[in-house]
Amino acid sequence: MNAIDIINKTKKSIQLTDDEIRWLVDSYTDGEIPDYQMSAWLMAVRLNGLTEQETLSLTYAMRDSGDIMRLNVGLTADKHSTGGVGDKTSFIIGPIAASCGVCVAKMSGRGLGHTGGTIDKLESINGFRTQLSVEEFEDILRKTGFAIISQSEDLCPADKKMYDLRNATGTVDSIPLIAASIMSKKLAVNADCLVLDVKYGSGAFMKTKKDAEKLAALMEKIGKGAEKRCKAEVTDMDSPLGMNIGNALEIAEAIEVLQGKCKGRLYDTSIELAADILELAGKGDNQQCRKLAEESVASGKALDVLRRTIMLQGGDPAVCDDVSLLPQARCSYEVRAMQDMKILRIDSEEIGMTSLLLGAGRLKKDDHVDATAGIVMHIQPGDTVSTGDKLMTLYSTLCSDFSDAAVRALNAIDFESVNCHKPLT
Ligand code: URA
Repeated sequence: MNAIDIINKTKKSIQLTDDEIRWLVDSYTDGEIPDYQMSAWLMAVRLNGLTEQETLSLTYAMRDSGDIMRLNVGLTADKHSTGGVGDKTSFIIGPIAASCGVCVAKMSGRGLGHTGGTIDKLESINGFRTQLSVEEFEDILRKTGFAIISQSEDLCPADKKMYDLRNATGTVDSIPLIAASIMSKKLAVNADCLVLDVKYGSGAFMKTKKDAEKLAALMEKIGKGAEKRCKAEVTDMDSPLGMNIGNALEIAEAIEVLQGKCKGRLYDTSIELAADILELAGKGDNQQCRKLAEESVASGKALDVLRRTIMLQGGDPAVCDDVSLLPQARCSYEVRAMQDMKILRIDSEEIGMTSLLLGAGRLKKDDHVDATAGIVMHIQPGDTVSTGDKLMTLYSTLCSDFSDAAVRALNAIDFESVNCHKPLT
């Protein structure tokens, strides 16, 4: 076999065999195929796509490029979101499912670009450790049912190498490549039940609902093909999920949801995904599982799981009772309405980029992240505000000049002018 024949076949949309795909992935991972040939193949895939059979072969070849986890803790579940702005559902869903008797074992990464990373968010809790041995991971799972560790270098090395190359060659936005990349890692983590939250909208990889549905269907097929209990949901990321964006700010909001203080879209999405996990794990039909999830929040059982997990992973569990113990920004700035307006839409990607400018995210892989930086939104689409009302508060410790970030934040808001004079008091 040789790389040129394989590139030419994909260029002409001729289906590759399982052996050819496996040879390509293995040879690239071992350094026998250079980046320029793999880039050419990835671009051919980006332009011509892959068949379902080829996507399945690619997923398995990438999964088998490294270790496959075999946790000894009984039935396990995993939840994956394709990424979005303000998405902190993992810190809500994991504890809910665990409190209902389903072990949620999550392996997560750091953030790059406008979406935040689960590990960065957790590390905003003083002392929280995400680099655990498999034995420690299993021990916490047995004690609380919920634990999160950072991505191991030994899992899916092929994906790591190919994803870096895709980022540098404009080949990220390909449905089969995204499906194979995500599913190879999920299959390597090897949980029994898998819930996939495929986002669409301005802050997501998939800009349209139709593309998100295609990706969701493909990933669900791969999961089921690998004999996992698997369900993919398609959810809206056109505006940020919840009111807080940024590392410590998102942990605070997730805790407030588990304290029963926040309802709305973030709560509803979390309950829906938690119910999916419980249903896959055989805890009842979707209606019954939704009820279980709601009761777990209302009774404080889910918050108790999070408190114990934080303690066992080295963090300060008192944050679960007092979110002001999370790191606080040194500087803040209020963005106010310059006219009476009705909020039509809040562009997630722009809000994510504003949060990144404030220090909450990374433009390059080794950039330092400010745990305190981010945005608290005071508005949602559909709200009407008067001149001078607060729209958002921007927070940062690293950045004291908020002018660029404030302009960008204002540009993220689509509105129409209205007349809403407040009565004089
Ligand atoms: N997340 C991944 O892990 N891989 C992709 O290709 C896109 C998003």
